[in-house]
Amino acid sequence: MKNQKTDNGKNMGKRQAVRIGIDLGTSNLLVYVEGEGIIFNEPSVIAMEYETGDIIAVGFNAAEMIGRGHHGIRIISPLNQGVVSDMDAANKLIIMALQKVENVNIDLETSTVLICCPSQVTQIERDSMIDLAKSLGVKDVFIEEEVKAGSIGAGLDIYSSDGCMVVDIGGGTTDIGVLSLGDIVVSDTIRVAGNYFDNEIINYLQYEHGILVGKRTAERVKKDVATLRKNLEAPLSTYANGRDVVSGLPKHVIIKQEEIRNLLIDPFENICNTILKVLQRTPAELSSDIIKKGIFLNGGGATIDGIDEFITDRVFLDVHRSKNPMTAIAEGTKILLQNRGNYFVKPTD
Ligand SMILES: Nc1ncnc2c1ncn2[C@@H]1O[C@H](COP(=O)(O)OP(=O)(O)OP(=O)(O)O)[C@@H](O)[C@H]1O
Ligand SMILES: [Mg+2]
Repeated sequence: MKNQKTDNGKNMGKRQAVRIGIDLGTSNLLVYVEGEGIIFNEPSVIAMEYETGDIIAVGFNAAEMIGRGHHGIRIISPLNQGVVSDMDAANKLIIMALQKVENVNIDLETSTVLICCPSQVTQIERDSMIDLAKSLGVKDVFIEEEVKAGSIGAGLDIYSSDGCMVVDIGGGTTDIGVLSLGDIVVSDTIRVAGNYFDNEIINYLQYEHGILVGKRTAERVKKDVATLRKNLEAPLSTYANGRDVVSGLPKHVIIKQEEIRNLLIDPFENICNTILKVLQRTPAELSSDIIKKGIFLNGGGATIDGIDEFITDRVFLDVHRSKNPMTAIAEGTKILLQNRGNYFVKPTD
């Protein structure tokens, strides 16, 4: 039977079982659908009408509303520090994301869904990911660690006996893992990542510049000038608009790159110390592999200028940014979905 298309081009043919990989991050939601690739890569934010719960916007459109809403709108980030804190909003966000698939009419009940989570979450937090999939009607769901999916997506062969170390600096958590023979050998997760840096910027601007700014502005300031480079040859600057702490009136300030660099040093020292602790727990043979290969970085934080030299100076290992730090996890789900539960068989493309 020929598939029929609706007016918006959506395929309304027979419902199909597919494999779906979900990287439900604190900042960004990425959804991979087998045969289609990454079909959604937008902020994990949803805006709903307060009274009715009707969805007003998701992703980029909803993120634009953060700090700009009124009493009739709830703007929700359904994850807090890597774990689901609002199940209903997470459910609706994923359903909206899956509607972006153009060519397949997905039957969630018979599909297989992989959801990624930070490596050090509690069993209750893991179970909440499973509950989330069940609330979507999915029967076949499994959970894998983000650091595992991310290392595969970064092009590392985690199925070999050659160990590797991956550090994922996301929005809510920094996840550090040493992997070998298809699984995590040692790992640690800390709640120091992008959102923490943004809060540091908000506090700094309030106390040093006397200006109150919202989260979106703080994040934009960070993206404009964040650096960890020791020597800033031609320092940049940026601006922030907000509200004067004293008068309450609109205020504009100029921010130097050095100021943001200095704010980032402490949290990144913290991240480096956690990397050192993971290295101390790493078995000797794997340590020798990591000396040869270096450390691989994933997540939005990996894009910060000078991060490689900063970490190398403190942990004395080579540091490489992966080619696709922000999509590596979603890309890695492709292989984990094929290779479910079988550590030693390398999947084929
Ligand atoms: N160019 C940049 N410079 C600095 N930070 C950036 C840049 N681009 C993105 N980020 C930050 O990266 C973070 C998002 O990264 P990512 O998408 O990996 O997080 P996530 O997967 O949603 O979160 P988590 O894995 O912690 O749940 C945000 O805090 C964002 O501000
Ligand atoms: Mg992430």
